[in-house]
Amino acid sequence: MTVAKPLPHDAAPLHVTGAARYIDDIPTPRDCLHLAFGQSSIAHGRITALDLAAVRAAPGVVAVLTAADLPFENDVSPSNHDEPLLAVDTVFYVGQPIFAVVAESHLAARKAARLGRVEYDELPALLTYDDALAADSRFEDGPRIYAKGDAAAAIAKAPHVIEGRLEMGGQEHFYLEGQAALALPQEGGDMIVCSSTQHPTEIQHKVAEAIGVPMHAVRVETRRMGGGFGGKESQGNHLACACAVAARLTGRPCKMRYDRDDDMVITGKRHDFRIDYRAGFDAEGHILGVEFRQYTRCGWSMDLSLPVADRAMLHADNAYLLPAARIESHRLKTHMQSATAYRGFGGPQGMFGIERVMDHAAHVLGLDPVELRRRNYYADRTDRGVSAPAAAAAPAPERISDEKKHVDLTSRGSADDSIPPAVPRPHSGAQTTPYGMEVEDFELGAMTRQLLESSDYTARRRAVQDWNATHQIVKKGIAFSPVKFGISFTLTHLNQAGALVHVYQDGSVHLNHGGTEMGQGLFQKVAQVAASRFGIGLDQVKITATDTAKVPNTSATAASSGSDLNGMAVKDACDTISDRMAAFLAEQHQSEAAAVRFRDGRVYVGGESYSFAEAAQRVYMGRVSLSATGFYKTPKLAWDRIRGQGRPFFYFAHGAAVTEVAVDTLTGENRILRADILHDAGASLNPALDIGQIEGGYVQGAGWLTTEELVWDGKGRLTTHAPSTYKIPACSDRPEIFNVALWDGSNREETIYRSKAVGEPPFMLGISAFLALSDAVASCGPHYPYLNAPATAEEIWRAIGRARHGV
Ligand code: MTE
Ligand code: MOS
Repeated sequence: MTVAKPLPHDAAPLHVTGAARYIDDIPTPRDCLHLAFGQSSIAHGRITALDLAAVRAAPGVVAVLTAADLPFENDVSPSNHDEPLLAVDTVFYVGQPIFAVVAESHLAARKAARLGRVEYDELPALLTYDDALAADSRFEDGPRIYAKGDAAAAIAKAPHVIEGRLEMGGQEHFYLEGQAALALPQEGGDMIVCSSTQHPTEIQHKVAEAIGVPMHAVRVETRRMGGGFGGKESQGNHLACACAVAARLTGRPCKMRYDRDDDMVITGKRHDFRIDYRAGFDAEGHILGVEFRQYTRCGWSMDLSLPVADRAMLHADNAYLLPAARIESHRLKTHMQSATAYRGFGGPQGMFGIERVMDHAAHVLGLDPVELRRRNYYADRTDRGVSAPAAAAAPAPERISDEKKHVDLTSRGSADDSIPPAVPRPHSGAQTTPYGMEVEDFELGAMTRQLLESSDYTARRRAVQDWNATHQIVKKGIAFSPVKFGISFTLTHLNQAGALVHVYQDGSVHLNHGGTEMGQGLFQKVAQVAASRFGIGLDQVKITATDTAKVPNTSATAASSGSDLNGMAVKDACDTISDRMAAFLAEQHQSEAAAVRFRDGRVYVGGESYSFAEAAQRVYMGRVSLSATGFYKTPKLAWDRIRGQGRPFFYFAHGAAVTEVAVDTLTGENRILRADILHDAGASLNPALDIGQIEGGYVQGAGWLTTEELVWDGKGRLTTHAPSTYKIPACSDRPEIFNVALWDGSNREETIYRSKAVGEPPFMLGISAFLALSDAVASCGPHYPYLNAPATAEEIWRAIGRARHGV
């Protein structure tokens, strides 16, 4: 079987040779036109005059479109119909498209776009959390609140109470391929759109509205993206709709791609968050109650902010059984880019809150931060098979309050570095999250133990402490953080997928499904599924572009669910075909269809065997269809987002990381010395691709919390709008020692070959890098440093001051 094999990405040779075709590489017809937007230069104001004469007169300009020129819907919002393609009267952020230039070349369009003269009546811009709160500017009437028990009462009774504020920045997606679209007008008003999108169906839907046709008249094709990371779930709508409108108007193909600066200024980013927390602990480090107030700047339009903020709430517990919790979420409307999906979709922000609480509590209580975490873990699943290596590490039924059994991992006297099992929180009945979902598949007790051992955590923590005791300038830090991430779209109806599979009479297979490829390796994994179902080699399976005319009504490739959903839909389609083949061949051989086997490129029936190609040929001659659709919907989901109760997730994916860093306390400069990761991809469909996802996710997560800083000036202008000022991790920033291992697990739920989604969860392992920096900073003084993210050199330097002198 090809599933479970560590095969390279199907397009790897094309990627590295430059032969992989992205939207901008598609050969354009020779009469193709190019688009660029004229953008708002202020954050909020009424347009009082729009003089586009110079734009129209510029060389190469064919047409200039304003809102008044749009023939049908002027809306590119994925949710709320609050996002015009081109501004109507009022602008709401710096960079908002006001007009579109259609010209003979990309450069001509860009140059002309700068010649627009716009006059505004400026209105007050709400830029900060405090601005928005003071104006009560928000999406939804008030804060959303999820609660379990009485957190305030639990905290009031707690022997130790901590409180604080954690600020975390947003994040630019920085996909290598910028946003791009190409619209090709067809006869009778039909339109073909090639789009760099995670969501072809959404592009189809918005384009159909924009050019006033039913969805059947629009076909959207996406072969691959050069990275999406959530930034291509909704942010491609502008380009596709503008191109389609211009193509309809001119009758010529129209193409648009954002220059990098435009891409950064126009499109939405990760939501930044401010989290105020208060938590009560007992002396042994058990959390008794916690309150979070999450504030997020959603920007000017709703986009996907509600489900993003929901997911932040849903990850406020991370790996910990919280006896009482209250999570309050404020979705603030500000005059900035409309924040959007980004790997983790709010989960990282919510999870970061509780990880800060655990770190803060460990500092105050003088406990090892890992031990404190393990004492608050959910209990591990109890149904793990005997074969799983972790079975031996199941938590011993010790009494948690037994002081003698308490092992301080940092105690210098202990010669034995072996890691004892976690002793999770005792609970009666089901262990439930703050939103009432039972946690049945927790893996982190055993995983943590394995990782602490493989990373030599105890000895290294001692070594770090020894180093810090004898070095004044360069301080080291080490930290552990776990991830428990919920898998499924929280908008339940999105958890469906379709597939279309053809077997040709020569035995070659054409594979299509609703998922999109953005570098994550989805197409290869799904092809492995198809090859395995038919028992053939991958060379017999043709991976094809996502196409709304082949598989309709698809969901965005998002929420990490691409392989879960599309893998199952493809399995369904393949099994329909192989069942038909088996029935036909069995009848010919007067044997049982159930006994027919597809393996090693052959079909075994009634004591004989055919090559897959021969079998296909026979079935074709017998006039049996060799083409089928497939469908899948995720079972067991039941979620009420208003009440915050139910089962929003099919299952959880887990991971754990230990990161060690060094900090120059004179400058705040720092680097990651080593990272060790153990990640749960269930029974991996492709360990090579999954490890790639884990490495990339960790580095991207660490980048979010360290060097990637978005800065807006007092006028709402993004000043970090190019790689010169916005620092993503470079190859040289990856950990010098980087050990990534897959947990030898198997999904408790019936997913495709018992695998688990892996796209987003490892992103949050980057939190361990931040916590390691905080640990290094904390060694500089007696006070808790209240490090904020991104922990840039400057922020680290400030936090060193707080560690030394207090806040
Ligand atoms: N990996 C690469 N190389 N490029 C990407 O754009 N996007 C991430 C993740 N991994 C991304 C990636 C995000 S945000 C998601 S939701 C998942 O991939 C989507 O793909 P999947 O559902 O197939 O895992
Ligand atoms: Mo990923 S943020 O769900 O596209």
